[in-house]
Amino acid sequence: MSKQNIKAIRGMRDILPGQTSWWQRMERQLAEVLALYGYREIRTPILENTALFSRSIGEQTDIVSKEMYTFTDRDGSSLTMRPEGTASVVRAFVEHNLARAEPVNRLFYLGPMFRHERPQKGRYRQFYQMGAELLGSADPAADVELVDLMVECIGSIGLRDTSLQINSLGCDECRPAYREKLVSYLHGHEGSLCDDCKRRLRVNPLRVLDCKKDSCVAVSQDAPHMVDFLCDECSGHFESVRLGLETLGRSFEVNHRMVRGLDYYSRTTFELVAKGLGSQNAVAAGGRYDGLVEQIGGPKVPAVGFASGLDRILLLLQQELKEPESMPVVYMVTHGDDAWLKGLELASRVRKTGIKVMADVRRGSLKAQMKRADKDGARFVVLIGDDEVASSTVSVKDMAGEAKAGEKQMSVPVDQLVHWLKTNLEKEKAK
Ligand code: HAM
Repeated sequence: MSKQNIKAIRGMRDILPGQTSWWQRMERQLAEVLALYGYREIRTPILENTALFSRSIGEQTDIVSKEMYTFTDRDGSSLTMRPEGTASVVRAFVEHNLARAEPVNRLFYLGPMFRHERPQKGRYRQFYQMGAELLGSADPAADVELVDLMVECIGSIGLRDTSLQINSLGCDECRPAYREKLVSYLHGHEGSLCDDCKRRLRVNPLRVLDCKKDSCVAVSQDAPHMVDFLCDECSGHFESVRLGLETLGRSFEVNHRMVRGLDYYSRTTFELVAKGLGSQNAVAAGGRYDGLVEQIGGPKVPAVGFASGLDRILLLLQQELKEPESMPVVYMVTHGDDAWLKGLELASRVRKTGIKVMADVRRGSLKAQMKRADKDGARFVVLIGDDEVASSTVSVKDMAGEAKAGEKQMSVPVDQLVHWLKTNLEKEKAK
């Protein structure tokens, strides 16, 4: 019977050990910045009730109407694998009544999200986001903090060639008038719109501004701007956000066509765009969502947040940065049963002092073990054979360039090995 290979699902990929050091460094750097701004981690489940996302992101959005991984659970309820983190954070915020304990909550999360999109460079069906949400302030200071945090986070991990775009989508007071104006403008150009946009024009006209098709871009270029229709409050809010960003030296450009693909936004929206990624060039994005907490059954709590696409960021970083350095390795090579036991014991003792030790686990020939040590990038090899066991010493071989070629090997008493390794690894670091 033929056995068929089972492969990973399209758009979902393994992150192998050669890659994980990049992820670990990026996650460490992000956590440091988030801590400086006072954000604390929240972890929510991957599965949620489908209604959470359809109600918050919006039935008519691409995410909800075509991209969610939704299935019926054994008890008949409809569950969905989270396509983003904001709805889940807000659900948890309401469920645990976090507003009661703290008037302002600064939260962050990191983890996989799932969208059934067409996979391409920088776009996956399982992808990773780091997101931050500030709940409890309607003040422009909160918008400025979030945008500043977003740019700082992405810059701190080494991605600096980015540009910041902002817009305001107004509020329930002023958006209807804009919407009306936009619809009448778009009707005048309906013949040039793609089929998708013709449908959007009826159900969600603002989304036409976001279409990437050439003919639709041409139409939306001359479309009326939301910022010209903002009510006094929204206009003042947007002005303060711009002023705050200017004061912080965060340069930006107002992108009148940035409407975002989720329905919960009001007022400020923003995106950080990078070069070198083709069409999937948004590395982080977010905005204000003052109505969402109430919509999910909570009190009236204004909020603002962003999420960054870590897979995309890493694609860019790997073009620009060097691989993160790992700790130098000491490799234990043994020959004979007594030496093997001695090697086990010694490896464990050296590791306890904070030095990385790898030991041969296949007990091959000395030559095979040395080859393995070289392949694993050993800095020093500790050799133990019958002679060494008898004399309570070990032989240490320096594997660095010249020393290795010169077959430099020295005898070190067992009880001095840790000291010897520490001194020599320190010397190396100081170089
Ligand atoms: P979003 O714009 O849908 O917003 O996603 C944020 C970021 O996630 C995007 O800018 C992109 O970098 C990344 N991303 C999205 N889809 C994919 C994909 N299929 N493959 C790879 N990366 C992807 C949100 O998710 C909102 N929750 C952001 C937010 C937080 N708004 C307020 N708070």
